[in-house]
Amino acid sequence: MVCLGVLTYLAWRVVHDTTRDWWEKDINLRAQLVVNGARQGLIRHWETPGDGLKGLLTEILHDERIMGVAACNADASLLAETQDFPRRFNCNELGLHVRPAANAPGPEWKVWWTKATLPGGDVQVSTIPVLDQDVPLGFVALVHDLNFVARREGKTQRFILVAFAVLAGAASLITLVAIRLSWRSWSNELRRLVRGGGPRPEFQPLLQDVRELIDRISTEREADIQGGAWTPQRLKHTLNRHLHGEKVVILANREPYIHERTEDGRTKVLHPASGLVTALEPVMRACSGTWVAHGGGSADRATVDAKGRVKVPPGEESYVVRRVWLSPEEEKGYYYGFSNEGLWPLCHLAHTRPLFRGEDYKCYRAVNQKFADAVCEEVDSPDPIILVQDYHFALAPKMIRDRLPRATVLMFWHIPWPNSERFGICPWRNELLEGMLGSSILGFHTPVHCNNFVDSVERFMESRTDRGQSAIVHHQRATLVRPYPISVEWPNHWAQLSPPVAECRAAVFAELGLKPDALLGVGVDRLDYTKGIEERLLAVERMLERYPAFVGRFTFVQLAAPSRTVIERYQQLNAQIEATAQRINQRFGRDDYRPIVLFRAHHEPPTVFKYYRAADLCYVSSLHDGMNLVAKEFIAARDDEKGVLVLSSFTGASHELTEALIVNPYDFDEAASALVMALNMSVEEQQDRMRSMRSFVAEFNVYRWAGRMLVDAARLRRRDRLTGRLSEHLLTAEGG
Ligand code: F6P
Repeated sequence: MVCLGVLTYLAWRVVHDTTRDWWEKDINLRAQLVVNGARQGLIRHWETPGDGLKGLLTEILHDERIMGVAACNADASLLAETQDFPRRFNCNELGLHVRPAANAPGPEWKVWWTKATLPGGDVQVSTIPVLDQDVPLGFVALVHDLNFVARREGKTQRFILVAFAVLAGAASLITLVAIRLSWRSWSNELRRLVRGGGPRPEFQPLLQDVRELIDRISTEREADIQGGAWTPQRLKHTLNRHLHGEKVVILANREPYIHERTEDGRTKVLHPASGLVTALEPVMRACSGTWVAHGGGSADRATVDAKGRVKVPPGEESYVVRRVWLSPEEEKGYYYGFSNEGLWPLCHLAHTRPLFRGEDYKCYRAVNQKFADAVCEEVDSPDPIILVQDYHFALAPKMIRDRLPRATVLMFWHIPWPNSERFGICPWRNELLEGMLGSSILGFHTPVHCNNFVDSVERFMESRTDRGQSAIVHHQRATLVRPYPISVEWPNHWAQLSPPVAECRAAVFAELGLKPDALLGVGVDRLDYTKGIEERLLAVERMLERYPAFVGRFTFVQLAAPSRTVIERYQQLNAQIEATAQRINQRFGRDDYRPIVLFRAHHEPPTVFKYYRAADLCYVSSLHDGMNLVAKEFIAARDDEKGVLVLSSFTGASHELTEALIVNPYDFDEAASALVMALNMSVEEQQDRMRSMRSFVAEFNVYRWAGRMLVDAARLRRRDRLTGRLSEHLLTAEGG
């Protein structure tokens, strides 16, 4: 408004000054014309002024705009004047301006004019010299009434202002219409894009922003709406809301329930010792769907339907296990061979040399295809959500994508990813990477493993890395590479089913024949060289050596589930651990005291939780571990907020559970000191540390792990649908 006011004033000023200038010049010109027109008559009467001259002046006065006329002699004396010639002007004064200065060279008389204000209004006086053949006789002064100028000026100004206003209005209207039209076209364009129209290049950055905004808002809304802890219900809700309750298909080598034939011919169900199962089983119970796995139990075939399916958990039956059968040769080459003698030692820094055999890899590839085919049989839409688990299936994501190009494939790598130099020793490195890049999202436990993977791809593949998006673009497809630290269910149903801590402790003490004042440490692992079990026993030995007061008082129980026993390295490990335990027991044991109790057997979760709850400390001494869920399970088990976790710094868990006593498992002195510190720790400090770790695991539980991946998957699916439609439209537009 202020702008418009200023503009109008400026316009008025310009119009006023310009028109005024025009009129003044025009009046002067007219005065000269009038005097020139009457010049002959003036000359004739000049010498004998009288009525003749006055009559002539009166003639001039007929122009209504001239108020008065006077004729002045060359000496500035008045010759004649009309009746109303204003007194204000006299020949003397006017002559000063018309006549040349007394000492000026030559007879240069000039036209002169001025303005003045009289009681009747503004006037302009023009003085015009009268020359007779270049001889100046005098001058005529004409007084013009400027009121008519003011009137005309007003009219002109009004006209111009109205015109200006009309123009300004028209311009504003045109601008508004243009803005409206262009906004509408932008909105239409946006709407078209959101609904799946074809993008124009100029909309690409905007589209990107809109996508990011939608992503952010949906994530924030997700957090706001749900708030609080991740629970099975919240995970289910997330699946329903973001993925319209789509069926989830998991591919993992290990099945969650193994049916085994007992010696007396009955069938029993086992829960395998597996971090993967610990994490994923509660997720499947929450989401339902199908878990495709190797049917390795002796009664597995007897418990499935014709299509290899069985509903689990027994008695609850909330999801399906689809079993895939492997021949002994397939198992040898794929599972024991390439997976566990090749990839497993390749990915773990645990000083066991990887063995790469061509026939194992061939088998691995064929079995990956077999499982990928089984997955494709289990899906019920062209764009299913498939969760591929672990190093057993590096090739499966691409195989699945080849058959189901629109599938959302989430691959989670449960073990560490080595640096690119180390990974580079694998003869089939490119094919493995290519296979994994068939995933939509590739998850690792830690950012370090993500970076190692990205480095490996950059080093060995033709691809582009989008660090901002944490994505690798390969064959025009993007794979997001993200850290998703895995966890355990919370609250933990095994902990909830366990007897009270005191009861567990009493039961374990009775089983082990421990005195009431005994101190108990526990270790729970598969018998694997990466777990540092031997190093753990050696740390206990060092502790007893350095702190003899604990001899006779401290017992360490190792629950060691036999694993991959067909592999020579595992057999060696088994023997070594047995021998080490025996040696330490011989060194420090007495009749009724064994410092090391080694249970080499599979233990079902109720037993494992009983030991967790009975112990004063739990020592997790992995030499290298992606996460290690034993550490988190121990915390979940300790609802009494007591017990101390001693944790290897080479586990993913050590980055999260910082209230544990973190040790280097290779440093036996440090580990021994930590064990002593744990045993001497006050109850208050135990509670402080345990409380803090429990609240962390409660919040960052496995439902959150799965939920985050599924939310990311949902986001990706929205994008893929959008981009799919965008490119379809683009192709149609180009074709048309
Ligand atoms: O820790 C890696 C891992 O593959 C886990 O994912 C799984 O829990 C464990 O090893 C079990 O191995 P396996 O299936 O060979 O017994």
